Amino acid sequence: MAEVAGEPHVLIFPFPAQGHVPTMLKLAELFLLAGLRITFINTERIHRRLLLNSPTLPPLARLPRFRFRTIPDGLPEDDRRASVPLQELEESIRTRSREPYRDLLAPAGRDPDEWPSVTCVVADGSLPLSWEVAEEVGIPVIFFRTSSACAFWAYYRIPDLIKGGEIPFPEEADWDEKVRGVPGMESFLRRRDLPSFCRNAKTTSDRGLQSVDNATASTRRARALILNTFESLEGPVLSHIRSAIPITYALGPLHLLVKTFENGGSFVTINSVRLSQEDRSCMTWLDSQPPRSVVYVSFGSVAVMSREELMEFWHGLVDSGERFLWVLRSDLVEGKTGEAVPAEAEGTRERGCIVGWAPQEEVLSHPAVGCFLTHSGWNSTLESVSAGVPMICWPCFADQQINSRFVSDVWRIGADMKDKCERSIVEKMVRDVMVRERAERLRTSAMEMAELARRSVAKGGSSYRDYWSLVEHIRAISS
Ligand code: UDX
Repeated sequence: MAEVAGEPHVLIFPFPAQGHVPTMLKLAELFLLAGLRITFINTERIHRRLLLNSPTLPPLARLPRFRFRTIPDGLPEDDRRASVPLQELEESIRTRSREPYRDLLAPAGRDPDEWPSVTCVVADGSLPLSWEVAEEVGIPVIFFRTSSACAFWAYYRIPDLIKGGEIPFPEEADWDEKVRGVPGMESFLRRRDLPSFCRNAKTTSDRGLQSVDNATASTRRARALILNTFESLEGPVLSHIRSAIPITYALGPLHLLVKTFENGGSFVTINSVRLSQEDRSCMTWLDSQPPRSVVYVSFGSVAVMSREELMEFWHGLVDSGERFLWVLRSDLVEGKTGEAVPAEAEGTRERGCIVGWAPQEEVLSHPAVGCFLTHSGWNSTLESVSAGVPMICWPCFADQQINSRFVSDVWRIGADMKDKCERSIVEKMVRDVMVRERAERLRTSAMEMAELARRSVAKGGSSYRDYWSLVEHIRAISS
């Protein structure tokens, strides 16, 4: 074991991407509140983005118990790609950043700030390096996953699905057939709801399948796990996870839990750090729209689509007759960067507002927003759940396929248009979720779920209690 100086010192190491860094910063903020000392690792590239977009960053550097540390990501300095494929980024970090990371875990005495040794690493389960090196040098690791519990559990069972012959799918498989090997989901999980790489795998040696199999093998060694979810939303799945990993903390929705403490007026502003510049003009536009009249459209930070798909969404939205606020990232359309609005968009300005990046949490809480057309990334899903906004789901990859199934068929707070991108379907879904009879039922369920989310993070709620149990756990393994 590394030398322990008695004081808990947590090192947090997120995967360098939008869906991960802001979420783990919220965890850092919560740990600081509990009096823990935090080192937060960013890649240099991500840290430059934080500095560029966050005027609040410099004051954070003066906090006595919090510091950022950076390591290279191993990619060439002049790599200007808007987004690097996630697997390429992971491999680059794993092979090139091992030594700089190991140095950061060096025992006290070699630390330039004279901080005590790291006593616990909160490792992002999507970034194997974060836990591999910690385990090598004997520092206890707690895993953090940015995905839902339902997606985590399905991933966890992938090796069993392979052993049971359910993956790879047989030739000409019926994608609507149920999957048997994920306990608790037998009655509704279909082949098409499994992570997208399962569809593409032709043999058990498929690269995507192998890499998940390897990551799962590591996760199965986890002694403790943190998930950004809450009991009233995913209690049954959490029970299954706890049968495999008994120490599993459900702290979500993290963005609401942070607010519980901010409302107490006692805290710092790590939560205000941004990776992208938000275009706030959409908030003024929303202010002038009637209540629940706007479809908010955003596909997260990574998903891409073809030009044809984009136009099907476009026509579907226009044909629905509803108003919309659309986040059109410059790299949303495959193979194109820098293109903002398609030419066909010009005639629809009066009913639509388009931005490159929105303050999403605020948008979803705005009374003018009536539904969310989303790629079903977990952060987006939880933000919509928390705001009581029904969803239309267009899942693109990985955990999103499972999240959308839960939204439509388990929680019943939205509709899943998985695999069918046609303007008539988009139009029908928008009408269903915004105005038709079904809309009222969905809205009521969504509002009820939002209330449960609020209760889970309030004093005495399940996430609030798990947070303090986690802090106790960290203190215990640090002493
Ligand atoms: C990815 C995966 O899709 C997700 O399921 C996984 O758990 C983490 O990595 P991403 O695709 O970016 O993340 O989606 P999501 O998890 O929904 O995160 C997007 C975040 O960006 C959300 O917190 C959202 O509020 C924010 N966002 C998005 C904005 O702040 N503004 C925008 O305009 C769009």
